[in-house]
Amino acid sequence: MTAAPARLFDFIGGAEGAWRVDRIGAVSGDSLPAVARLQMVAADGSVDPADAAWRLRGITSNERYVERTEKQQLLARQPALGRPEATRAALIPIRKNAAWWAMTQDERRAVFEAQSRHIAIGLDYLPAVARRLHHCRDLASPQPFDFLTWFEYAPADAEAFEALVAALRASPEWAFVDREVDLRLSRDA
Ligand code: HEM
Repeated sequence: MTAAPARLFDFIGGAEGAWRVDRIGAVSGDSLPAVARLQMVAADGSVDPADAAWRLRGITSNERYVERTEKQQLLARQPALGRPEATRAALIPIRKNAAWWAMTQDERRAVFEAQSRHIAIGLDYLPAVARRLHHCRDLASPQPFDFLTWFEYAPADAEAFEALVAALRASPEWAFVDREVDLRLSRDA
């Protein structure tokens, strides 16, 4: 029997890790303490550095909003994490407000796609950008964010990535974001 893929991940800010923190700042709400390095690890207890400044935990999950035709488009275009040329990354932890969570699933989908075109916009940036979405609300202990979003891309696609985040932040979905921190990272090739 092969082991199930890891779903629970820790993002550990501190002095160690493959990713250098090039910049860190709040888009909405409070930022996170500045750190020099970040490591992303499967949260299996094997990595627990004593000198960590902070640790954010999230879990991958089933999709909530994607429809069949979108799923096919995503599967056809989305690259895997860990491409050797993808030496830039972004960790963008996001919390949405009570109004978002008070809506029903169909109301949220309407904001997410019909009004904001999150998937349609995102598809334009594939396969340049690889991504993984981690959920935080379903963990047993309260977490400071609802989502930990993670992206990897090559330096040549850094400008395109800025255009992507700007387009999403200008969309109606982002009116529901009440805390967002943006960390940009790089690693050696
Ligand atoms: C690279 C292009 C992108 C694509 C293809 C993409 C695609 C998606 C898809 C398909 C989902 C829904 C998953 C589901 O059905 O549950 C999603 C959710 C999400 N994405 Fe993106 N995305 C992209 C970029 C971004 C960026 C740059 C950000 C942050 C600035 C972001 C933040 C989020 C968040 C917070 C969610 C969770 C929304 C919620 O459940 O309320 N995405 N994305």
